[in-house]
Amino acid sequence: MRYLEIAGKKPLCGEVTIQGSKNAALPVLTACLLGDGPCVIENCPQIQDVEDTCALLRLLGCKTSRMGHTVSVDASGVEFSAIFCEEAERIRSSVLFLGALLGRMGEAALPYPGGCAIGSRPIDLHLEALKKLGVHFFESLDTGTLRKERAGETVPEIAAEAFTKDLQLCGAGIYANAPHLHGACIQFPQPSVGATENTILAAVLADGETLIENAALEPETEELCRFLNLRGADIQRERGGRIRIFGKKTLRPVRYRLDADRIVAGSYLLAGAACGGSVRFRNLPMEQLASLLAVLSRMGVTVTQDGSMQVQGDLLAAGDVVTAPYPGFPTDLQSPLLAALCLAQGESRICETVFENRFRTAEELRKMGASITVEGSCAKIQGRAMLQGADVCAPDLRGGAALVAAALAASGRSRIQGYDYIARGYEDICRDFQSLGAEIRLTDSGDKKVW
Ligand code: EPZ
Repeated sequence: MRYLEIAGKKPLCGEVTIQGSKNAALPVLTACLLGDGPCVIENCPQIQDVEDTCALLRLLGCKTSRMGHTVSVDASGVEFSAIFCEEAERIRSSVLFLGALLGRMGEAALPYPGGCAIGSRPIDLHLEALKKLGVHFFESLDTGTLRKERAGETVPEIAAEAFTKDLQLCGAGIYANAPHLHGACIQFPQPSVGATENTILAAVLADGETLIENAALEPETEELCRFLNLRGADIQRERGGRIRIFGKKTLRPVRYRLDADRIVAGSYLLAGAACGGSVRFRNLPMEQLASLLAVLSRMGVTVTQDGSMQVQGDLLAAGDVVTAPYPGFPTDLQSPLLAALCLAQGESRICETVFENRFRTAEELRKMGASITVEGSCAKIQGRAMLQGADVCAPDLRGGAALVAAALAASGRSRIQGYDYIARGYEDICRDFQSLGAEIRLTDSGDKKVW
C-alpha cells in the first residue's frame, strides 16, 4: 500500500499551479456519451476518478485517449448500456451514467455508486427526478431492458466481453429504461449536485422542456451546462436555482477547457495557512472561493488577486463556520479547515450540515495532539495545539488532504496511510508541496527506503 512520509514544521515558499477540476471533469466526460464524434477535454486532471470514468466509457464502446492533460472521448461507437464493473462501484459519479445512458440509449443498467464514506449518500432524489422524465426502474435484471448484443455485428472486443460478463454479473443495481424521455417540472426538496447533473444529462436530449427548481448552484454543475450548451444543448440558468432545458435531437462534438479545481485550491490555501510562509497559486479560481476567503480573512490570512497568500502574524481562530451548498462554505473544505484551525490561536467551531459522517479526520488529528471535540454535527477546535508528527490514516479523499496539511505544519515526522484516497482527487500532492519546499515523499510499503 502506498503512503506519504512528511517531515513537518517548514514554512511553505514558492509557486504552484492548481490542477483542473475533478468534480467538473467527471460529469463533463460522462456527458461525452450524449452524441457522436470526438470531444476533446483540456486541463483534465490525471487522477484515479478520471481514469475510472474513462474505463466506463470504453466499456460502453467509446474510444478514449489522453495526451498529458487533454482527454479525447469519441462516443460514436457506443453499443451498450450496462456498466457492471469495479470502477462503477468505486466512484460516486458513476451514477451520472444513468442519466447519460438514458439520454443516449434509452436504457441503463449499473451498480449502486461508490464514493467516500462520508454519509449514507442515497440516490432517491436522482431516481424521483428521472421518473418524472418518463424513466421506468426495475428491481432486477430484465433482459428486455438491456440492448441485446446485435447478432452478427462486430462490436469492440472489450465491450462485447464486458457486456456478456455483465449479463452474468448483473447483480444488485439500477436497471432502467425510458421508452419516451420527455420534459417535466422537477422541484428538488434540497439542492443535490449529482441529482441536478443526472437530470440535466437525461433532459438535454428529451422531448420537450424541463424545468428544475432548487437546482445545485455549484460551479461544477455550471461547467456541465456550459459544456453541453457548447455542444448545442439549450440550457438556461435562471435566478434562484432554476434551470430550464429545451430538449434537442443531437449534440455536436466540441473542444472544452476545464476550470481550475476550487477544492484543491482551497485545500492548498488552508495548508499554506497552517504552515505559514509565502506562497503563490497560479490560476486560483478566486470568484469561486469567496466563502473560504472570508473565513481566511478572519484567520488573518490575505490572498491577493494574483493568488499570493500571506499569513499576517499568528493564525487566528475562525469563530463559527457552517458548511452549506454553494455559495456557502464547501463541505469538501471542512476537513482541511479543521486541520488548519488546530494551529490557530483560540477556539473555533465548524458545523457540518451537508453530510452526516464527515468528521472522521478529527480522530486522526488527535493522534497529532489536536484538541477537537465532536458533538453531533459540530466540531469544537481548541487551537494553538503544537501538533506532533504521527502515523495516521486518511479516512477519505478530503480527510487525506487535511492530514497532509496538518503533517506539514507539525513538528517531526508523519506517515499518512491511505494515499489511494488522496490520489482520487489530487493529481500529485507530493510534487505540488515539494515545489513549495516541503519535505514530503510517496512510499510504497514494499519499499525499504528510510529517511
Ligand atoms: C458531489 O457529491 C461531490 N462529488 C462531492 O464531492 C461534494 O461533497 C457534494 O457534491 C456536495 O457538494 C462529485 O461531484 C463527484 P449531493 P454528491 O448529491 O452529488 C443528500 C469530493 O470530495 N442526497 O450534493 O453525491 C446527500 O446524502 C466529493 O470531491 C440525498 O439525500 O452530493 C447529501 O447529504 C465528496 N439524496 C446531500 O444530499 C440524493 O438522491 C448533498 O449531496 C442525493 C443526495
